[in-house]
Amino acid sequence: MRGMDDGGLAGHLRRRIAVEGPISVAAFMGDALGHPQHGYYITADRFGAAGDFVTAPEISQMFGELIGLWCAHTWSAMGAPDQVSLVELGPGRGTLMRDALRAAAMVPQFRDAARVHLVETSPVLRDRQRELLAPALGDRPPRWHDTLAGVPDGPLLVIANEFFDALPIRQFEKTAHGWTERMVDFDEEGGCFRFVLDRRPGPVEALIPAAIREAPPGSVFEACPAAMAVAHELGVRLAASGGAALIVDYGHPVSAAGETLQAVRRHAFVPVLKAPGTADLTAHVDFGMLADAARSGGARTWGPTTQGAFLAALGIRERAAQLRRRATPEQAADIDSAVHRLIDGSEMGTLFKVLALTDPRQEGAAGI
Ligand SMILES: C[S@@+](CC[C@H](N)C(=O)[O-])C[C@H]1O[C@@H](n2cnc3c(N)ncnc32)[C@H](O)[C@@H]1O
Repeated sequence: MRGMDDGGLAGHLRRRIAVEGPISVAAFMGDALGHPQHGYYITADRFGAAGDFVTAPEISQMFGELIGLWCAHTWSAMGAPDQVSLVELGPGRGTLMRDALRAAAMVPQFRDAARVHLVETSPVLRDRQRELLAPALGDRPPRWHDTLAGVPDGPLLVIANEFFDALPIRQFEKTAHGWTERMVDFDEEGGCFRFVLDRRPGPVEALIPAAIREAPPGSVFEACPAAMAVAHELGVRLAASGGAALIVDYGHPVSAAGETLQAVRRHAFVPVLKAPGTADLTAHVDFGMLADAARSGGARTWGPTTQGAFLAALGIRERAAQLRRRATPEQAADIDSAVHRLIDGSEMGTLFKVLALTDPRQEGAAGI
């Protein structure tokens, strides 16, 4: 194989394709991000200005603080249970949870009730989370789980920021003969991965929402079965045990045709199939499908609203003014710039959405 290290992820994928034939985009993405030895998230901490991307909690402490207060408020609306699992899906470096816990200390009964559970598959990131959160949690360290299923039964508050965009998507393409799945093959002559269409007959049409089925040839539809499974499971658990989930991610409010799979390395776009395992792969979250899946599990859904509107409703401007009072001129400029990045429509304010799922007995979700 030209230009590829056979021992790494590209070699693994190439061998997998040799055995199985072309694989789905979801299989490619799942291995690229989560392969136990070579996956992008498994091998290194990719966050920050020196890494590949920056997420909202890494931009400013205000993001996690406001979410911490949202959790404390929601816990109170749940009837202040003696114990609640405070769960984060895909906590990255643990920054959001650290800031959330600090702010939530304003409601000591909530801090006493909260047991922190982290759903994280990356050992490297689990270590980062341990370093950051151990001092804040003292004799009640967080518990880690590979999946939501590991979190014990009981009332729960779940936070997921930029978790769902990392779950593997399937891609479908409309051709002159109807819908078909896009697969990934290896081109032995060119020495590179390439997209091909699945020619085998299958029930693909049934997987496309009715409103999109008649889209013109060339249209692409992306579905994320893993995201729908997690949303459904959240719906079932919230309905059975009480609580709420807050999902923040970039994406569209209702299902739509369009190709959004992208690869980012060092803050720049790179070709999606090139050098798997060395770039972040994400796709826009279909909030319409997430909400449907959560409702089918029994939850009530609120929103999605935009991240800008949500953070403004929770008081980001007031928190920024408070921080500015004790800040140097440089720090004040950083605070202003962070607020702009988080809520302005030209930055993250509109593209990022916030969806809340609650126990069906809850009468609302703060900020939405
Ligand atoms: C883009 S990062 C977001 C991190 C963090 N929430 C933040 O806002 O900075 C995605 C996170 O999800 C984790 N992750 C990705 N796929 C996962 C999966 N299938 N199960 C559990 N965690 C996963 C990654 O290791 C990482 O911690």
